[in-house]
Amino acid sequence: MLLDVQDLRKTFDNGTRALRGIDLSVQDGEFVVILGPSGSGKTTLLRSINGLVGPDAGKVRFCDRIISPSTLPDLRQKTGMVFQDFNLVNNLSSLNNVLTGLLDSSNKFMSMFYLFSREQKLRALDCLKRVGLLDKAYTRADQLSGGQKQRVGIARAIVKRPVLLLADEPVASVDPLIAYSIMSLLRDVGNEFGITVICNLHQVDLALKFSDRIVGLSGGRIVFDAPTREVDDAYIRNIYRGHDRGLFFEDSGEAEGMSQ
Ligand SMILES: Nc1ncnc2c1ncn2[C@@H]1O[C@H](COP(=O)(O)OP(=O)(O)OP(=O)(O)O)[C@@H](O)[C@H]1O
Ligand SMILES: [Mg+2]
Repeated sequence: MLLDVQDLRKTFDNGTRALRGIDLSVQDGEFVVILGPSGSGKTTLLRSINGLVGPDAGKVRFCDRIISPSTLPDLRQKTGMVFQDFNLVNNLSSLNNVLTGLLDSSNKFMSMFYLFSREQKLRALDCLKRVGLLDKAYTRADQLSGGQKQRVGIARAIVKRPVLLLADEPVASVDPLIAYSIMSLLRDVGNEFGITVICNLHQVDLALKFSDRIVGLSGGRIVFDAPTREVDDAYIRNIYRGHDRGLFFEDSGEAEGMSQ
């Protein structure tokens, strides 16, 4: 098992219960989409897996080690992140943005650019080639289109050869056609490099098209978890409809508290 999340809970300081006991195991090589309405806890879950959010209770076991302050730096090196807003450094070239993916987050990366080896630069160029952007290697990030920016974001996430890619709504800021091509790219690089992918999405159609498995979140809980081939659009929408009516919780008082 690559990832095993057990009874993960997170309440923010303002009292928002973002995660209410998440159990999730992910196998090596899976492409898992996490679907759920706004505020359901998708980002909080992803950030807990990467140690960016410290949970109040529960455990995250990744690569056979429990995430803790002492294991986190090492485990984070094994994960790549892809963001909705790309998180590129605007005044740097695509190539330098990809190279930042090789830096340890504790480094002051702006001072590091001249320290990359030839081998690392070649590897970064190779990743740009893989995402179809070799010809933009020396173009500043702020001169790229949204779709191109996300391709750079993916190249940056894979340059360190992670075992797990965490993508938080990677296509929320691009048009539907580009969204499709970005999702294909994520799936294909996952397969090619043997990277497990967990991807937060809002779009049911993209989840059905590209994932191996769909996990549905609502109100900080998992409300379904099934192989994609066993579900369809109507099934998923029905579940959310049921959830909206409080059908999936024994304690209806708690279900009311879901809508924040
Ligand atoms: N830093 C924070 N402090 C307080 N509350 C927070 C914080 N981050 C998230 N929340 C709350 O926790 C809940 C879950 O948020 P989260 O961002 O995980 O949802 P999401 O499913 O990613 O939503 P979206 O689809 O809009 O991105 C929401 O009610 C949100 O307002
Ligand atoms: Mg989110």
